[in-house]
Amino acid sequence: MSTTTVEKARMEVNRRGFLDIDIDPELDLFHEIERLKKEKNAVLLAHYYQEPDIQDVADYIGDSLGLAQQAAKTQADIIVFAGVHFMAETAKILNPNKKVLLPDLKAGCSLADSAPAPLFKQFKAKYPDHIVISYINCSAEIKALSDIICTSSNAEKIIESVPPEQPIIFAPDKNLGAYLSKKTGRDMVLWNGACMVHEIFSLEKITKLKIRHPQAKFIAHPECEDAVLQIADYIGSTTQLLKYAVNNEAQEFIVATETGILHQMQKDAPHKTFIPAPPNNSCACNDCPHMKLNTLEKLYLCMEYETPEITMPEELRLAALKPMQRMMEISKAAGLIG
Ligand code: 13P
Ligand code: SF4
Repeated sequence: MSTTTVEKARMEVNRRGFLDIDIDPELDLFHEIERLKKEKNAVLLAHYYQEPDIQDVADYIGDSLGLAQQAAKTQADIIVFAGVHFMAETAKILNPNKKVLLPDLKAGCSLADSAPAPLFKQFKAKYPDHIVISYINCSAEIKALSDIICTSSNAEKIIESVPPEQPIIFAPDKNLGAYLSKKTGRDMVLWNGACMVHEIFSLEKITKLKIRHPQAKFIAHPECEDAVLQIADYIGSTTQLLKYAVNNEAQEFIVATETGILHQMQKDAPHKTFIPAPPNNSCACNDCPHMKLNTLEKLYLCMEYETPEITMPEELRLAALKPMQRMMEISKAAGLIG
């Protein structure tokens, strides 16, 4: 590849979000990615919502809490994050001296985007006595305005760690917030954000599907709307859903979360049947369009040329680190992470 082609492509990264360079179609990308991992002492972390090929080549696949924990303890020089922007940003917050790469910088998150920092700052100012617990699906700027971060795996424990008389703002997911309010009995002030993927499930179609599959367990992620959660047999983070599906004696599961998780469920329990919960129209809207911006080709290119890279001002990083550290401490004390 000529230096000019690569330089031109690098310059385009900011506009396009990824390196756009032709790859020899004969190249074995799995082999190349393994080679680059070794040569560069790079670790590849992937979320369950990534496409199957990316999950299969990753060193670690997990939910947001597991991925943050892996990012916090890795000895690698480079963290390649196959996930969305806020996840790679979180890895950078925890690892200022490591290079953090994201295959496509435009892999965002509708939930994180639903909380712009200037608006959230005004909102927070209306509740001076409240502390802010923010779901990890938010920007570094929102993290910096928060007291504690949580994920769907530890949110209940995080809320329970706050004294009952202390009022709480929960941001940015109103569905997760409402679910947690019900579970913990805490009356929290909720920011009005939501995930476009988890809000798309059709209650009517799920109900019909349950009738057609009477033995199936219906399992759902807590980012889903209340009406969907009300009919769920089990509610949990992606890792918790996976564990439940593998360990439960049922043979059929209707799964209300992003479809990427089905790959791992099917791998871990090959004889069971996993049915994606249907969205409220015929689109594939339960595929997260942001997560799916990452491809094996973009992953290979970002590892080969070490771009796009996540960077952030040190002042912002330090402000965002504090509530992340609080989350890690509470999670450790609760035995949720080692
Ligand atoms: P978890 O990884 O905590 O299950 O959250 C799912 C999600 O929406 C990530 O974007
Ligand atoms: Fe964001 Fe929803 Fe996609 Fe997760 S699934 S990255 S919360 S838009």
